[in-house]
Amino acid sequence: MCGIVGYVGRSEAAPILLDGLRRLEYRGYDSAGVAIVDGDHIETRKCAGRIAELGKLMAAKPPTGTYGISHTRWATHGKPTDQNAHPHFDASGKLALVHNGVIENYQALKDQLILDGDRNFSSETDTEVLAHLIGKLYDASASEAPAASNGNAAATLPNKKGRLVDAVRAALRQVIGTYGIALVHSDIPDFIVGARRGSPLVLGVGKDENFLASDVSAIVAHTRDAVYLNDFDVVAVERDKFEISSVAGEAGNYQLSKVEFTDADIKKGDYPHYMLKEIFEQPGSVRDAMRGRLSPEECTAKLGGLNMTPAQLRDVGRIVLTGCGTALHAGMIGEYLIEQLAQIPTEVEYASEFRHRNTPMTRDTLVFAISQSGETADTLGALRESRRKGYRTLGICNNVASTIARESDGGVYMHAGPEIGVAATKSFTSQVAILTTIGLLLGRMRHLSTSEGTRIIDALEALPAQIEEVLKLSDQIKAIAKKYASVPGMLFFGRQFNFPVALEAALKLKEITYLFAEGHPSAELKHGIIALVRPDLPSVFIAPDDAVFSKNVNNIEQVRARKGPVIAITSGKGAKHLAKIADDIVTIPNVPDYVSPILTVIPLQLLAYHLAVELGRDVDKPRNLAKSVTVE
Ligand code: F6R
Repeated sequence: MCGIVGYVGRSEAAPILLDGLRRLEYRGYDSAGVAIVDGDHIETRKCAGRIAELGKLMAAKPPTGTYGISHTRWATHGKPTDQNAHPHFDASGKLALVHNGVIENYQALKDQLILDGDRNFSSETDTEVLAHLIGKLYDASASEAPAASNGNAAATLPNKKGRLVDAVRAALRQVIGTYGIALVHSDIPDFIVGARRGSPLVLGVGKDENFLASDVSAIVAHTRDAVYLNDFDVVAVERDKFEISSVAGEAGNYQLSKVEFTDADIKKGDYPHYMLKEIFEQPGSVRDAMRGRLSPEECTAKLGGLNMTPAQLRDVGRIVLTGCGTALHAGMIGEYLIEQLAQIPTEVEYASEFRHRNTPMTRDTLVFAISQSGETADTLGALRESRRKGYRTLGICNNVASTIARESDGGVYMHAGPEIGVAATKSFTSQVAILTTIGLLLGRMRHLSTSEGTRIIDALEALPAQIEEVLKLSDQIKAIAKKYASVPGMLFFGRQFNFPVALEAALKLKEITYLFAEGHPSAELKHGIIALVRPDLPSVFIAPDDAVFSKNVNNIEQVRARKGPVIAITSGKGAKHLAKIADDIVTIPNVPDYVSPILTVIPLQLLAYHLAVELGRDVDKPRNLAKSVTVE
């Protein structure tokens, strides 16, 4: 959700910033821009549209200079126009700023600036107001006492640099809202200031060069040494040094981390789209989600990252799983899993609702915040609210060192590798695999026998090879997608563990094909949805050979009786049966019900993918969407 990149070093900034933006394009693609300081003036290129458009602008008239900032936008305030594209300038035109987040009180700040005589706004954005405010405070400080005398953390910086950092702090103290920002001033050579609150910002530490970025993937080609900034950090960045302090002016603490993936991990390779690459990575990502976490000797799972003693785990009386979108759907499967395997009452809460409502909680409630990015604003809000109320809150995250991972009391990393396609795929199966290990661990502490524990471990360990089998069906699914390419939408149905898969399949289809899609429990069909059934609207049934197979068959018959086409995802004996009544069937390996969502979802990810390609959609960057939703 907006991406920012900053660079200060000895190389030309333009190619580094442009390449960084390309890697962050998944965060937003409404407009893009760069500001590079060339001597005593700032060269800006910005435009509405994709980064490819910005690339053309920059190629036509390359900006030169060895430090600068850049931005790719997901519009919040103001339409995606050239004017609203970042960077934005202060009134003097010497300070350029890029911003990820929302300045909620921007109108009040703008009104005050106007009252003070500043009417020189050229965009509709909240960001421009912040640029003006910082610029005004910086200019005003020229006539005040030098920064070295004010006793705060900027005191170690020479005058202009210290004054700029002070102005940033003073402005941010007036801001209500969220921000990850980077700014340059044409009077201050080789100097960038960054700050964050609520939106991620990472400092990349190089040799004679340093970087700022919303996500390490933008800079991992240059350095794997990173400092993940905390909320209210302000960082002053130069070529060969940096200084971190807080918005309040205190000296900051930081930790240098090694980025766990390399540049090669974020390349598309031979795949036409990241989404397809990530779908095909699932044998490995599911294996990595379980690696070192299964103990066949003790027939249980080992999850040291939870930071809980066996006694504390035994005392858990209730679980709340919270997240958004795909992560929420994984949580819904988690509810079935934990209740079946551990018999612990479990609820799933939309993070956006949970954070604002007064959910009854008991002292023995354990909360899990599920998030691939670890930065989703609503999930982070839910985590903070839950911790504020004193509940132990754990994270299930993919991005190591993300805000949710850092702010939770413990958790489980997915280790799925970078997920760049905007539509989540491999993170979903990793989340479900992890929730199964949590169910196994908690179950084995309660009533699950050693043989049941062993059966679950065997089922989990067999998954990577079974996913390989499912992936071999890609061409068959492509043919089905071609056959149904002109449908107006699709309905998805499943029962038990596969009801959330129906929701997830519908979400995938909506996101990347823009077709209407709904997911429902199969039995709900007759309570209203059947009115939608018609000859040109396929119903997709997730009907593996499990305990509720015959119930699903009843529902399929109800659709057939009304001339609705049926596509079935099935397994085992289901294949023979459904071959007679469904229009198309996809047969996957037969597995125990509690692991089946990890297999059943894959043909549906592929169906959405192939249909989107068939319809000519931009699979990795679907309309209006962005990955990592850091605004509410
Ligand atoms: C769907 C999708 C979104 C995310 C949701 C939560 O394909 O990508 O629905 O699942 O925005 O994101 P994370 O998991 O990063 O919190």
